[in-house]
Amino acid sequence: MLKSQTKTIFDVETIRKDFPILQRKVHGQPLVYLDNAATSQKPMQVIDAIDFYYKNYNANVHRSIHQLGEEATAKFEEAHEKIADFINADSHQNIILTKNTTESLNLAAYSLTAGLKNGDEIVISQMEHHSNFVPWQQLAKLRGLNLKFIKIDEEGKLDEESIKENITKRTKIVSLTHVSNVLGTINPVEEITKIAHENNAVMVVDGAQATPHMPVDVKKLDADFYAFSGHKMLGPTGIGVLYGRKELLQKMQPFLYGGEMIKEVRFDGTQFNELPWKFEAGTPNIIEGIGLGTAIDYLNKIGMKQIHERDKELVAYAIERLKEIEGIAIYGPKERGAVVSFNVHGVHAHDVSQILDSEGVAIRAGHHCCMPLMGVLGVTATARASFYLYNTEQEIDTFINAVHKVKKVFGV
Ligand SMILES: Cc1ncc(COP(=O)(O)O)c(C=O)c1O
Repeated sequence: MLKSQTKTIFDVETIRKDFPILQRKVHGQPLVYLDNAATSQKPMQVIDAIDFYYKNYNANVHRSIHQLGEEATAKFEEAHEKIADFINADSHQNIILTKNTTESLNLAAYSLTAGLKNGDEIVISQMEHHSNFVPWQQLAKLRGLNLKFIKIDEEGKLDEESIKENITKRTKIVSLTHVSNVLGTINPVEEITKIAHENNAVMVVDGAQATPHMPVDVKKLDADFYAFSGHKMLGPTGIGVLYGRKELLQKMQPFLYGGEMIKEVRFDGTQFNELPWKFEAGTPNIIEGIGLGTAIDYLNKIGMKQIHERDKELVAYAIERLKEIEGIAIYGPKERGAVVSFNVHGVHAHDVSQILDSEGVAIRAGHHCCMPLMGVLGVTATARASFYLYNTEQEIDTFINAVHKVKKVFGV
């Protein structure tokens, strides 16, 4: 047993029993699910909550004056409160439910750029996911704004000089990922927010890879907006969150118009609803919101600090074992979130993934929705193993054995 295998923070075997999918086989082998950065698996508690809603109180929210409608509305509003507590926001008014991180960031990008003028600057970085890249790029084009990029250094961290050079008095919006989905880099959001605020810029954070894995405190970070997805943190698909600072949300124009987001509609105009409903037009993803609330209950029971510590153990062990194999390039810094991107010299990442799949090991291969970053790294694709609270060291051993098989098959 290697040195990283010395302690386990919580009982992983008990946790695994809550995830029925982990019992299944793939190509006759036990499933080893290491694609958690793409989406996480769901515990029975979340599956049961969804089942219970449809069997017992399915109704639309905020419109039906009957018992089912009231129960569904109460549960949906409670989900907003649970999410607010989870990230230490003041109240449900700061929590806008969307369909995913992508929609949350589009909402922020459309509404925040509405008042900007030609030549104003937006700063993102070279490591952004397309979700935090394309919306800013397209809106910059549409509104005549300048988009600037913070460079990454050799290690895969944001370059300090580049941060200072790019965030200036001309900057109106800074939008950065909290944790890179390729490099695993944990960005110093608190410090960069300070720099953004000193320059009177609004700070937006893509928390898609952070919220599932570590304690997130929006008050401590002091960011103005923080986006994440339910499906990466044990919740259902179809639910995302945009946390926003109340003073800013109040001033912002809605992103979508229609039912639910209004207080009064007349032939000559419309008065918008209160926060957060002003930004939740149409029938929302009710059960997905409630399901995310249940996922948060589950994560809280284990503890986000503990989950973060456990991630570190798994990542350290995976890197230690990968380094034993010759001809493996690993991308990203030592201190990182729960992802390890790598390449096997002489083998395309897609082939690596296919052989791993034949051994029951699910990883991700490709550009990971970070095509510009791939260019910076000088590759077209990487293989990526990403971990979560139900993964074990034994699964990492299976993964490593499968990487050995890749080398054998390709004779490299
Ligand atoms: C860093 C990061 N941002 C944004 C997203 C987009 O999330 P979604 O597809 O749930 O909108 C992802 C998804 O992988 C991600 O890793």
